[in-house]
Amino acid sequence: MIKLTQLSKSFGRHQVLNQIDLEVSKGEVVVILGPSGSGKTTLLRCVNVLEKPSGGEISIGDFKLDFRHARKKDIHQLRQKTAMVFQQYNLFRHKTALENVMEGLLIVKKLPKEAAREKSIALLEKVGLGSKLDAYPSQLSGGQQQRVGIARALALEPEVILFDEPTSALDPELVGEVLAVIRKIAKEGITMIVVTHEMGFARDVANHVVFMDGGVIVEEGTPTEVFNHPREERTKQFLKRITPELNYSI
Ligand SMILES: Nc1ncnc2c1ncn2[C@@H]1O[C@H](COP(=O)(O)OP(=O)(O)OP(=O)(O)O)[C@@H](O)[C@H]1O
Ligand SMILES: [Mg+2]
Repeated sequence: MIKLTQLSKSFGRHQVLNQIDLEVSKGEVVVILGPSGSGKTTLLRCVNVLEKPSGGEISIGDFKLDFRHARKKDIHQLRQKTAMVFQQYNLFRHKTALENVMEGLLIVKKLPKEAAREKSIALLEKVGLGSKLDAYPSQLSGGQQQRVGIARALALEPEVILFDEPTSALDPELVGEVLAVIRKIAKEGITMIVVTHEMGFARDVANHVVFMDGGVIVEEGTPTEVFNHPREERTKQFLKRITPELNYSI
């Protein structure tokens, strides 16, 4: 289980996350929604410790870290329990699809080259890229690059995969293939926290939906609770804006 306790982050005087409490059970898919600037990316970056939280705790399994006195070694250990899939894919441009996936296995997991290669090929096959092993990112579509990003995250066997708007940089016709891969791995019971505006996907795949605004969790619940029976005015307004065809006047 992953547990965030009173997690806060400020940039200078600007408090971007304000005492976030969140629990994610093993195998659960949590979707985070919220307007631009509400702190969604910052939250994921704090869980991945790409940003160091200003305060609060993160526990993943039996590992618990209080950021008021976190040492470098602890941060390193926590970082290894998570993997991130970025909006802009963030692949190494000068490495092939296969080398991109192998990188973490060689450097982080310290696997021998042949084992890393075999595992990476299997993962690329899993995301439907068995025929693109030697392609460079510039030779791949956005959807294919993102699927390499997903294979790379899976390779690390993290306790949780964090997705930051994984389809929002894609042309509409490529969104489906990436969501299909995420759906497939969700079914395998991998714990995920997904920031997305894909409401259909969120309804289908999420076990739990969190709506954030202004650095706090305004409302959370099952997809049915949040999408069909939002309680908070801010949630209703947000949902109305992004899915105007639905009527949230309830
Ligand atoms: N490195 C940084 N330095 C200073 N301020 C930052 C930094 N990163 C984020 N912020 C600020 O934190 C706030 C939250 O940003 P964040 O990127 O987390 O929002 P978001 O919910 O992911 O938005 P979007 O939907 O546009 O991606 C914004 O006001 C942003 O300007
Ligand atoms: Mg963001």
